Amino acid sequence: MTANRIYNFNPGPAALPLPVLEEIQQDFLDFSGSGMSITEISHRSRQFDNVINDAVARTRRLLGLDDQFRVLFLQGGASMQFAMIPMNFLVQNKFADYVDTGTWSSKAIKEAEIQGKAIKVVASSADKNYSYIPQDIKFNAGAVFAHLTSNNTIKGTGWAELPETNGVPIICDMSSDIMSKPIDSQKFGLIYAGAQKNMGPAGVCLVVIRQDMLDLVPDSLPTMLRYDTYAAKNSLYNTPPCFAIYTLGLVLKWLEETVGGLDKMAAINQKKAALIYDLIDAGGFYRAAAEPDSRSLMNITFRLPNEELEQQFIQQALQNGLGGLKGHRSVGGCRASLYNAVSMEAVESLADFMKTFETENG
Ligand SMILES: Cc1ncc(COP(=O)(O)O)c(C=O)c1O
Repeated sequence: MTANRIYNFNPGPAALPLPVLEEIQQDFLDFSGSGMSITEISHRSRQFDNVINDAVARTRRLLGLDDQFRVLFLQGGASMQFAMIPMNFLVQNKFADYVDTGTWSSKAIKEAEIQGKAIKVVASSADKNYSYIPQDIKFNAGAVFAHLTSNNTIKGTGWAELPETNGVPIICDMSSDIMSKPIDSQKFGLIYAGAQKNMGPAGVCLVVIRQDMLDLVPDSLPTMLRYDTYAAKNSLYNTPPCFAIYTLGLVLKWLEETVGGLDKMAAINQKKAALIYDLIDAGGFYRAAAEPDSRSLMNITFRLPNEELEQQFIQQALQNGLGGLKGHRSVGGCRASLYNAVSMEAVESLADFMKTFETENG
């Protein structure tokens, strides 16, 4: 570990690959021979054109997107997408299906309801406090889209496989597992993800949209809330979040060139998560919050025998250079977020600490 840096298990903003941070540091004062910082150059410059085009190209390669998809960078976070999706695609008597798997999908549903849009909640895991992913869902053939959250950051659940929607395009909030494994792009009408977990700093939201979805956008929408505005201008209708897009591009370069792509990343992520889940399952001290077939590989949520021990665990972990292990304020407990940039070494260090803590307090 580099001096003063801890192993970072934050849920987002979260760990970034150290080589990326070092590259930013090295190029910060003079970007690409411009004599200016990336934070000082024009978004209309040749240098920034290269930055955004490279980030788009890398997104396309990593996610296996063909020509029918557009790659956009928006502001307003994933939360803005909750509102923009129904606004852009649900007009006249069109309706959509939503699956409720906890906080973030509930918020997406709420934003559609606020606008009076027609939506059908076709499945929910609210009955068991969102500790599982619903199965055997019947989607409606006439729906414009089916909205899912692929990974539930707070509850620590995730879809091992996305459901069969019988031809209804999936709109997926992938904020907390985008780029953690390969996807079958053909299933999707739109994918969105705040960058600040697996792709970069806060401030940019990646949107991948299938070209034909743009035909649904009604004329009545304000310019900045329409997907076609961003698609027509390569996300440069107004000033984009330049630094966040630049960093995202570097993270994707690291994924392609250092890690070797999403298949390799997925294998590493499987191993990292298994190390912690196996340890939790082996003893009776830690208890996983999510049901076994619904567990997230990115956010591992777990409880200790009581809240006092949980506090102690989080504090002692930090003293041992392991940060960000507190569960979300709405659920309590502990959570280890094992995003792409969290190394195997970091996870091994966490596992060692967990074993020691169990021996001392079990
Ligand atoms: C799955 C998921 N969706 C949406 C959000 C909200 O993202 P933002 O803060 O970018 O609006 C989060 C944030 O943690 C998330 O984990």
